[in-house]
Order: sequence, then structure tokens, then C-alpha cells
Amino acid sequence: MKKDKVRLTVNGRSYEFLSGRDFEPGDTLSKLLRERLGLTGVRVSCEQGACGACTILMDGKSVLSCMTLVIEADGSEILTIEGLNGKDPVVDAFVNTYGPGEGTAMQCGFCTPGFVLETHALLNENPNPSDEEITEALSGHICRCGCYHGIHTAVKKAADHICSCEGGEQNE
Ligand code: FES
Ligand code: FES
Repeated sequence: MKKDKVRLTVNGRSYEFLSGRDFEPGDTLSKLLRERLGLTGVRVSCEQGACGACTILMDGKSVLSCMTLVIEADGSEILTIEGLNGKDPVVDAFVNTYGPGEGTAMQCGFCTPGFVLETHALLNENPNPSDEEITEALSGHICRCGCYHGIHTAVKKAADHICSCEGGEQNE
């Protein structure tokens, strides 16, 4: 696939990137987002699709930006952690999960953007996931600080918040 020009919407802004000027044909989306747009909330660790740190949303679905070429993303709508704010229910749940019995969803925070965006992808499709569905959805993500219990709690809190706002059923 050869493309001279790639158009993307990133966190609500439209961009046009030229091959040879802004990217090379083999460049990954993570490289473009981090180096051309300065979106360093797109974490890069393994660059092999094994850790989930570089997860972003592309047209509402989670993708590993280290495994996605810029040219494959042409025409898509990208969301990175920088496109969310503190009022976002998932961000809020990750930040505010630390109470007794909850665990903590964040220590160093390196993995957090990937987990947050994966949670958005999950809740987009399934606003009231079971414990098993949460575990399955997050299974491609590694947290080197071992915050898995807190992250699971945060996802349930975010789902509960979204469901209650939408008048849906609460998780048990
Ligand atoms: S950096 Fe992309 S999956 Fe690890
Ligand atoms: S909070 Fe440190 S890697 Fe997950």
C-alpha cells in the first residue's frame, strides 16, 4: 500500500500528513503521534504488540499503535489519552481508586493511558461488563507495578458511573 498523503482526526483536530515530509511509509502510528504531534501519553515499551502500553482508540476501537502503520490509519478518528480530561469517568475512576479494599489503579502511571483507552473501547461495546469480560478485555495489557486489582476495580467503578448516568442497570 502506498500513500502520499494521510488524513487523520486526532483528539478532535484534523491533520494532513505528507509522506517523505511527515512520515515514512513504514512508520508506525505511535511514532507519528509521539514525534510529530508530541502526544507522549501514547506510551511505547515493547514495540511488539505484547504490552498494550501504546493502545489508542481508532474509530472507537482499541488498536496497538506500535503495530499500526500510519498509512493504515488514513481517514480515521484517533483518540489518545490527551483527548480525555479529568471529568472523563474512566480517568476519574483510575485516579480515584485507592480506598480500603480497592487497591490502587495507578502507581508509576506508565501503563495507565493504555488501560484507560482499552476500558473506553470495552465500555463503548459493553457498558456493563462482567468480571470475566473485564479480565478478558484487559488481558493484553501489562502493568509492571502490579496494580491489576485496582485497575479492575477502576473499570467496574467507571462502568457503574456510566450505567447510572445512562439510567442503566448497575453492576453487582
Ligand atoms: S508498545 Fe505497543 S504493545 Fe507494547
Ligand atoms: S502503574 Fe506502573 S506500570 Fe502500571
